[in-house]
Amino acid sequence: MKIFIASDHAGYTLKERIKQNFSEIEFIDLGTNSADVSVDYPDYSHDLADKIGQNFGILICGTGIGISIAANRHENIRCALCHDVTTARLAREHNNANVISFGARVIGEEIAFEMINVFLNTKFLGQRHQRRVEKINIKRA
Ligand code: RB5
Repeated sequence: MKIFIASDHAGYTLKERIKQNFSEIEFIDLGTNSADVSVDYPDYSHDLADKIGQNFGILICGTGIGISIAANRHENIRCALCHDVTTARLAREHNNANVISFGARVIGEEIAFEMINVFLNTKFLGQRHQRRVEKINIKRA
């Protein structure tokens, strides 16, 4: 399993802890590479969205908000900002999310680990949810 991961400076330390904790996963780490250099979260979000293909992704900033907003500007991305295992599970079951985001300044690392585990191991339920997901990218006037 190949997982794309990126963060800004606020998410850097948690990103590194995630890579240590899930040593069986092949992470494609798109940065950033330091907690000490302030960077702009959209740069990392857009880069992940451009490169992710059919894989899953993890995006981390201080709150998870900015990095998810930027990711969701891409038609190929359904990025779910999650705070607990329930939202992580439902993001997969109902929304077929391919990217999970969260905030390193608002959740603990154990919750992050559990959310990732649930997100990566939960299947999309399809059926009525498929119809709804298909409506997400419909262009509006
Ligand atoms: C960086 O200070 C912070 O604004 C960023 O990590 C994120 O929380 C934005 O949504």
